[in-house]
Amino acid sequence: MNVYFKDGNVATKNLNPGTSVYGEELIKEDEEYRIWNPRRSKLGAALLNGLENLKLDESSKVLYLGASTGTTVSHISDIAINGRIYAVEFSPTTAKKLVHLSRQRLNIAPILGDATKPKEYMNIAEKVDLIYCDVAQPTQTELFIKNMNLFANDDAMGILMIKARSIDVVQKPKKIFKEQEKKLKEKGFKIVEKVKLEPYEKDHIALLVEKNF
Ligand SMILES: C[S@@+](CC[C@H](N)C(=O)[O-])C[C@H]1O[C@@H](n2cnc3c(N)ncnc32)[C@H](O)[C@@H]1O
Repeated sequence: MNVYFKDGNVATKNLNPGTSVYGEELIKEDEEYRIWNPRRSKLGAALLNGLENLKLDESSKVLYLGASTGTTVSHISDIAINGRIYAVEFSPTTAKKLVHLSRQRLNIAPILGDATKPKEYMNIAEKVDLIYCDVAQPTQTELFIKNMNLFANDDAMGILMIKARSIDVVQKPKKIFKEQEKKLKEKGFKIVEKVKLEPYEKDHIALLVEKNF
């Protein structure tokens, strides 16, 4: 997957040597690597906590929902060097940084859009190998399913980052996670792997799923 383990950290090979994206440490060896900060990126946390079935390689096409300023997107961009990341973000202020990042990293296609309305970016994005969802919204499982149904190619995977408090502040996280899993299973998804994000993120879980179309 082109993810490297260095002194207890995960890292990716810097596609844009000499440049740090969010203040992360750069390590120069034979090539330059960027330390993937698990406190800034849930995917970094999931990988450090042992996520092992994620299919992501240098030609992967990814639809990323909730791209923010591009912290995690930048590491995926280091991995999918010949692929493409369609990075959807609905806050125009936040998306400005993402647009700036995409000028330095040509495999990122920023989309100012609302992930609850995937049809609106159907003419920009294409079928992808991975759908990554981290919008931290109460309805994120539903919007994730909608996007999977429209953009997932035949053997695509999906990864859903669930923050219990974004869904319900009162209910127990365990119950919330179970409910989201149930919704996914009812819509024909198989849970491939579950990884908790503690100690980097409290009451968060990463769900890796696939769907047999
Ligand atoms: C938790 S942050 C994402 C952090 C980012 N995934 C990372 O690791 O670098 C959630 C982001 O989702 C965006 N967002 C929330 N609802 C959205 C929607 N319906 N469509 C697109 N983006 C959305 C927010 O503006 C915010 O930037």
